[in-house]
Amino acid sequence: MLNDLKYVLLDEKQIEEITDRLAAEIDRDYADTSRPLVLVCILKGAVVFFGDLLKKIHRPVELEFMKVSSYYSGTTSTGQIYVHLDLKRTDFAACDFLIIEDIVDSGRTLSMLMQLFRERHAHSIDCCVLLDKVSRREVPCVPRYRGAEIPDEFVVGYGLDYDERYRNLPIVGVLKPEIYSKS
Ligand code: PRP
Repeated sequence: MLNDLKYVLLDEKQIEEITDRLAAEIDRDYADTSRPLVLVCILKGAVVFFGDLLKKIHRPVELEFMKVSSYYSGTTSTGQIYVHLDLKRTDFAACDFLIIEDIVDSGRTLSMLMQLFRERHAHSIDCCVLLDKVSRREVPCVPRYRGAEIPDEFVVGYGLDYDERYRNLPIVGVLKPEIYSKS
């Protein structure tokens, strides 16, 4: 799979430094509350980041999973959002929620998710993203916690896919254009 990459954007050491920093920021910011902090993993892309990040957070957390999609098998957003898997809980007003995302691109997915948690009267809703493709933003959206700002390139690995491949690479890399222009 490494042969399909144009270059490595974040290696394992850089990812570890990012997850260390983000976990410390989250621990610091939620230190003064006894409310449950619920980490919401947005499947599938965030699953690797989620698994690494949660182990570095020292305060108690609860875990939830949602599956939404805004892209399909291509490389650009369709602008459509579907919720395939949702939370089954009713105590939104009693909890702080932190959405964990692998990447923010147009910002549509994250904006929709934040709005959904506001409508459910979450005590608080914020987001922690590994990668921020700021130059692609179509909807205003600034994640509270952000790993790295990245260029407008097609990235895979560490949870991110192209046609369901590359999610298990331990690094984030830029895919060679000839790989996705074949289809
Ligand atoms: C990706 C990513 C975000 C969304 C970001 O998910 O995980 O959820 O796209 O794009 P946006 O800012 O333009 O809305 P994707 O739909 O590719 O699903 P996956 O995580 O299952 O691969």
